[in-house]
Amino acid sequence: MCASSRKSSSLLDTRTIFCGDNLDQLRKLPDACIDLIYIDPPFNSNRTYEVFWGESKEKRSFDDRHESTRAYIEFMRPRCVELARVLKKTGSIFVHCDWHASHYVKVMLDQIFGENHFRNEIVWCYTGPGSPGMRQFMRKHDVIFWYSNSSEEWTFNADAVRVPHSQKTKANYKPGLIGSGFVEADHLIHAKGKVPEDWWQIAIAPRGKEYLGYPTQKPLALLERIIKASSNPNDIVLDAFCGCGTALVAAQNLGRQWIGIDISPTACRVMAKRLRDVCRLPEDEKLWRAGRGFIVRDLPWSEKQLRKIPPFEFENWAVIALGGIPNKAQVGDMGIDGRIYPVSSMPTRSGKTAGELDFMDVWYPIQVKQKDKVGRPDIDSFEAAMLREKRTKGFFISFEFSSDAMREIDAFFRREHCIIVPLTVQEILEESIAMKLA
Ligand SMILES: C[S@@+](CC[C@H](N)C(=O)[O-])C[C@H]1O[C@@H](n2cnc3c(N)ncnc32)[C@H](O)[C@@H]1O
Repeated sequence: MCASSRKSSSLLDTRTIFCGDNLDQLRKLPDACIDLIYIDPPFNSNRTYEVFWGESKEKRSFDDRHESTRAYIEFMRPRCVELARVLKKTGSIFVHCDWHASHYVKVMLDQIFGENHFRNEIVWCYTGPGSPGMRQFMRKHDVIFWYSNSSEEWTFNADAVRVPHSQKTKANYKPGLIGSGFVEADHLIHAKGKVPEDWWQIAIAPRGKEYLGYPTQKPLALLERIIKASSNPNDIVLDAFCGCGTALVAAQNLGRQWIGIDISPTACRVMAKRLRDVCRLPEDEKLWRAGRGFIVRDLPWSEKQLRKIPPFEFENWAVIALGGIPNKAQVGDMGIDGRIYPVSSMPTRSGKTAGELDFMDVWYPIQVKQKDKVGRPDIDSFEAAMLREKRTKGFFISFEFSSDAMREIDAFFRREHCIIVPLTVQEILEESIAMKLA
């Protein structure tokens, strides 16, 4: 159950997801306004979409990696300087990283936040399948660096994160009660459990329950522990690389205020849906003003902006704008970027997986091209994909269509009785597409 929303902070727009580069977005925030920061930046920021959707294979040489590490630290440094500026004196920052660059990140954080403000290096351990025939141990942990912004005062709610003592500890304690604890040999053990060590065994986001399908998604339990330990109800939590919004959901669940930033419009839409579905939080400007609900700001909305976003983001934007479902595969999509399932289509049992309702028979393919003018060859390859998939209607989205392309769409209809609906970005933006979708 999610905690009920309270009024948004008067200084800041909380319960807000900002779409954009966090360097620009952070610069708009006032000094010392955030109680707790968690970040989980992608290792290679030039390929944000790959990292958000999962980098399948990593085969880079040492030189490549060295260059990547340098680029990564150069990318992270100005952002961490901004994060230090917006953090309250009593606040904390948790920086999530892994073996790729953790040593370099620690040096950078020591420089920015101060060595004596370092509190913990948390090792998050998990398990999962490894590839057979490996010649080294499996890499199954991440590192989270915790820095407080002061060496005297910071929040640590030990009681909120206690875990049960081991059976052995419990069996050995002598019931000589001192305060709220028991004496075991010379040690005091707390009746409510122990404060966890700095290594945490937490399962990767469980499939089915909270798993959204994004490999970079972190488990809610991980974020809940950080937020419970290092913030208090109604404090402001910021995640400046918020992905599919795990930190925001955890903060909302725990009655904290929150701000999320992500450069990917797709990620922003995914997390907005998650907040609506999981937290039952309405995405509504009016309700948000009244202290309920949340909003997403700065999503790209003009043709000019849409021309500049990465092709994969553009495809997602276009498919989602049409009410379709984007293909997750970035390569080998065989000329189809997404599918629309008309409201009237019903699940069928006619597929290979007899007995399972796992796909719909009626769907329309969507092809997206982020180019100025779609030409005849583009239409030709979409036609081939439609014929291969035995589809009689499909949608093609781009900025403009050449007259050759339009002639081919007509010819295709006359030849094969198949319809290709050409849609321009302008038409989608003006929301004048309802008739064409019918
Ligand atoms: C590893 S994912 C975060 C996953 C997140 N912790 C979760 O549980 O869903 C990193 C995110 O950082 C975003 N990102 C990359 N560069 C960014 C930038 N300059 N500004 C804001 N977000 C950025 C990516 O779009 C991606 O969604």
